[in-house]
Amino acid sequence: MDAVKDRHTGTDAARALQDRLGADVVMTGDGIAPYCRDWHGDMQSDAIAVLRPRTTAQVQDCVRAAAQLSLQIVPQGGNTGLVLGAMPDHPDQQVVMSLERMTAIRRLDPEDFSAVVEAGIVLESFKESVAQAGLYFPLTLGAQGSCRLGGNVATNAGGVNVLRYGMTRDLLLGVEVVLPDGSLFDGLTRLRKDNRGIDLKHLFIGSEGTLGIITAVSVKLTPAPEQVATALLALGSLDDAITLYRHARRQCCDLMSAFEFLPPLAFTLAKEGLPDLVLPMQAAHPAYVLMELSGSGLVNIDDLMAQFIEYAFDAELVKDGVVAQSQTQARNLWLIREGMNEGQAKRGKHLRTDISVPLSSVATFVIEAEAAILAEMPGVICVSYGHVGDGNVHLNMLPDNSSDIDAQIYRAKQIVNQVLDRYNGSISAEHGIGRLKKHDFDQRLTDVHRRLLGAVKTAIDPAVTMNGGCQIDL
Ligand code: FAD
Ligand code: LAC
Ligand code: ZN
Repeated sequence: MDAVKDRHTGTDAARALQDRLGADVVMTGDGIAPYCRDWHGDMQSDAIAVLRPRTTAQVQDCVRAAAQLSLQIVPQGGNTGLVLGAMPDHPDQQVVMSLERMTAIRRLDPEDFSAVVEAGIVLESFKESVAQAGLYFPLTLGAQGSCRLGGNVATNAGGVNVLRYGMTRDLLLGVEVVLPDGSLFDGLTRLRKDNRGIDLKHLFIGSEGTLGIITAVSVKLTPAPEQVATALLALGSLDDAITLYRHARRQCCDLMSAFEFLPPLAFTLAKEGLPDLVLPMQAAHPAYVLMELSGSGLVNIDDLMAQFIEYAFDAELVKDGVVAQSQTQARNLWLIREGMNEGQAKRGKHLRTDISVPLSSVATFVIEAEAAILAEMPGVICVSYGHVGDGNVHLNMLPDNSSDIDAQIYRAKQIVNQVLDRYNGSISAEHGIGRLKKHDFDQRLTDVHRRLLGAVKTAIDPAVTMNGGCQIDL
């Protein structure tokens, strides 16, 4: 990534932006560095300026000003994306637009189970706010303390509750978007059912900032789960974990809200990531599952969990397990899952993948892909974990010191993708394409698929004002 901007052009453009938009909105200088860095800190870029509007009208002004100066806008929420979608790659032509100052909850309608909220609100703050009204916004991911709703929509984020509540797309009622010409698409409907023609919100969900700036969203809420049961279960293999998932789907009705697969290495990585973490059991088994049941009203979730675990022991699927006896213990179990990411980050640059295959192929895919990597690179460590109930695995690879780390990461990614292609899987189940997976995405597009994507982009953003270089090159 080119990290050197043309200082002269950049300064002129920044001054022009400041003249037009004011110094409150246009940030320049050293302060912009964090907005030009990826979450892991592996890469640092630069930009002409960072625009930080406070209102939708200011977003419109910014977009018009950028377009007039022929600058591209790289939209940014919490900058937790893992595929470099919010990372400027042409510092002399691009400004970052951060939505971080647009955090208002415009309305909360408990009686409709819905809310309208600005795109810059941090996901966790939003969840906390609706909880005060006895409501729940189900999107749950490790980055929720930093990621912002607009970023979640732009990436169609997944997370650990997808198997029950769906992806971000399934939680969305409507969007407000500033288009590349500065006009406003007001699609903030609160209707649950509305079949008046093509539903345009879907164009912006997962668009990764390439079609416009999402400034607000209307979302579905659910009643807050009053009862939650969380268990960490030890099993003999990933295959057994998938079998357990199928049983849980049938035995626990629709009350299962998470089913995450962890390898034994998760314990070590979590401890490295979060040294104060107290581990609830030894990593003595080949596979672990973090399972959550939740509900409200006239059900007994603890009973259901206890009965299911007894059933799973009897079926000889589960070898050992702990059930959280308090919210603190439940949180502690989740910290193993979340700490894994921190632990991997602490080990330095590594391959992060985000694949999906049909549920019935998860175990064989992982075995095959890990074996293929280790056959060629015996010194590296494969770490496969994640949302297996959705067929979504993060098959990561921690390099060794035998050769160039970037080359190892590149080669391991190629191997994973080659195996994945045999399974007709997806190279991006939840993180998106961004700049990181653009080439791999493009290689796998059919001509018709590419033509349709190009037609949408050209229709909405013909001058490529929005996030050029992200997702696809026309
Ligand atoms: P950013 O990183 O700021 O941006 C992401 C993309 O969206 C960029 O292309 C950007 O241009 C665009 N964008 C941002 N805001 C807007 C806007 N308002 N309008 C238009 N475009 C916009 N992802 C999952 O799906 N599931 C997980 O379980 C998960 N776990 C994670 C755990 C950790 C520890 C980390 C670091 C990341 C994880 N992620 C996960 C990835 C990331 O958190 C999500 O992709 C998240 O949705 C990104 O939100 P953000 O606000 O940080 O977006
Ligand atoms: C997770 C991120 C990496 O599931 O998607 O932890
Ligand atoms: Zn994930």
